[in-house]
Amino acid sequence: MEQSIHSPRRLAGSQAVPGDKSVSHRSLILNAIAAGDATVTGLSDGADVRSTAACLRAMGVRIEPLAEPGSFHVSGPGANLSEPADMLDAGNSGTSMRLLSGLLAGQDFLSVLTGDGSLRSRPMGRVVQPLQQMGAEIMGRNGNTLAPLAIRGGSLRSIEYEMPVASAQVKSCLMLAGLSAAGPTVLQQPALSRDHTERMMTAMGAQVETDGLTLTLHPTELQAVDVAVPGDISSAAFWMVAGLIHPNARVTITGVGLNPSRAGIIDALQMMGAGDALSLENERVEGGEPVADVVASSGSLHGIDLGGDIIPIMIDELPVLAVAACFAEGDTIIRDAAELRVKESDRIATTVSELTRLGGRLEPRDDGMVIHGVGKLSGAAVESHDDHRIAMAMAVAGLAASGDTVIHGAEDASVSYPTFWEHLAALTGAA
Ligand code: S3P
Repeated sequence: MEQSIHSPRRLAGSQAVPGDKSVSHRSLILNAIAAGDATVTGLSDGADVRSTAACLRAMGVRIEPLAEPGSFHVSGPGANLSEPADMLDAGNSGTSMRLLSGLLAGQDFLSVLTGDGSLRSRPMGRVVQPLQQMGAEIMGRNGNTLAPLAIRGGSLRSIEYEMPVASAQVKSCLMLAGLSAAGPTVLQQPALSRDHTERMMTAMGAQVETDGLTLTLHPTELQAVDVAVPGDISSAAFWMVAGLIHPNARVTITGVGLNPSRAGIIDALQMMGAGDALSLENERVEGGEPVADVVASSGSLHGIDLGGDIIPIMIDELPVLAVAACFAEGDTIIRDAAELRVKESDRIATTVSELTRLGGRLEPRDDGMVIHGVGKLSGAAVESHDDHRIAMAMAVAGLAASGDTVIHGAEDASVSYPTFWEHLAALTGAA
């Protein structure tokens, strides 16, 4: 699908973004193996979360829609799922594949996890290796580093594991395996990543201790809990940047989850000088997570040097931050972000190539990029590279560029944000 964008005279309005993708996956997976039933409200309807739901249903978990849109009743068979009759398809979703592999490592049956072409090219050795150390039998292509993964699960040993990358997916995978291990699982993290699994497992009765970068999980049977999924800050980030870079904008994004392990984008935009043009209203706590309405209006930004511990807590927002940096004054440097190379696309290569087509001046680096603030972009044809966040970041660029921007692969937005184009039309007054 192609989508054509022309900068509107004004960008204004209020939108609620879809439920947080990370919290949505976890609300299904953890409640699937917990004792008792739960109601999840505000679940993401993106393709990624649908993939997780389909995999769980194939193992005997009931996930039934309730009358209220986004609300589901989840009832699993308890800690022991049933052997799936066919391959489990994680689609485009790294979170589904990595979290489910941890869950399946502890299940006494054979399962095979596969996904689309993008997912089958993403590194799985980072979960396979530690799961093998725990005693799971796992095989995959390319020396057990690529999906499909065949998993013969069973009893697991406990491990103490030094994680080579700050990855919430790897951490959560090992925590899921650790729930049924023979003793405590101890993880040493190189930096903090999103902590939704820690929070949800704790709410479900697990003993999770964190001491700086060391996390210890004791094996437990989880108790189901109802989850109210907050709005996805990674989706909200597109409108935050759109509001800041458009010359005549005021956009409100309601009910955005602001868990500190996710909110790096707000800090980064403040470092770029957003000031009062980016503000929080109605700050509250919902379902144990901090939530607020975020208001973004036309601002003026300057370049920054971004690296270190903030990177894992805004990893998915770096493509759209690069869009903001094109409109900023001066250069922005993104370092310590080599993980971008192994996302749904190589986001260093794709962000640089597509923004360059729009007249941006960017240089790729091994672990990030340099973005020269040119203050403007001009419309052109761009590609999503099968990556939802690249499609949406380019749409944001198009909202402030001169001329027409045509996005090829616009349908990819539905991986995390199925109503993205409708919301864009509403905010531009085209709806
Ligand atoms: C996610 C963790 C991040 C992120 C992904 C979702 C999660 O990946 O990029 O979109 O839900 O745990 P890594 O933890 O591998 O960096």
